[in-house]
Amino acid sequence: PLVGELFGLRDLAEGLQKKLGIPEVIVVQGDADQSPWVKAELGRVGARVLKQAIQEGDIVAVTGGTSIASVANHLTPSASFKHVQFVPARGGLGERVELQANTLAAAMAAKTGATYRLLHVPDRLHPEALQTLLKEPQVQDVLALLQNTRIVLHGIGDAIAMARRRNYSEEELADLAEAGAVSEAFGYYFNEAGETVHRMPTIGLQLEEVHKAETVLSIAGGESKAKAILSFAKQSCQNVLITDEGAARALLSTR
Ligand code: BG6
Repeated sequence: PLVGELFGLRDLAEGLQKKLGIPEVIVVQGDADQSPWVKAELGRVGARVLKQAIQEGDIVAVTGGTSIASVANHLTPSASFKHVQFVPARGGLGERVELQANTLAAAMAAKTGATYRLLHVPDRLHPEALQTLLKEPQVQDVLALLQNTRIVLHGIGDAIAMARRRNYSEEELADLAEAGAVSEAFGYYFNEAGETVHRMPTIGLQLEEVHKAETVLSIAGGESKAKAILSFAKQSCQNVLITDEGAARALLSTR
């Protein structure tokens, strides 16, 4: 039998906790690469874990992506979200509107009865334009909130898959591959050792702020994300990883 085939979900979760050094790992059945209902399940569990973690007055930074969109789909109104603010983690990461962090922050607030803030930053801004935007009081307000983020809710992507989704040119893709990029989160690209090899020029939550946040919840599944999950885990900042069997089995069979 293949490695891990004899193990149940709990054993997979335990194995991952040890291998990745993440305190809590939850593994759902199936492989998100294969079936859409697995992504729905990741979102359902993500919504439950977020609800358990939330405290009155929390600032929750959220990223975009299909996994976090699935969490938004599964949130429901609850008194625990009183005075909670959802804030997009980064602005302008080249994601489709439905999957942008801004959209998901607003959707989560609408679902739970919380409030939200937006970061209006167009994609691919010139450095000078970014500097100008940074001086806007509205933007500064949101950045100040992000500095007090208690909970970070984010997805993890395969580096090259994410760069393609963001329409990087062939040349930029080749540069990324050359630099050894394996994973992507928050617009940062990391190599196998977890070192930053590239970051998208936008504003929002900085990696240092992710490290400072009390609770970091990661949602990422599918066999194709195994290497990315392993790479991002080197950051040693995650409290909870919600993943699936496809990613878990692949992760446990790589050294
Ligand atoms: C993006 C985030 O929106 O979603 C990325 O900005 C993340 O940081 C990605 O890697 C993950 O997307 P998905 O669809 O695989 O959950």
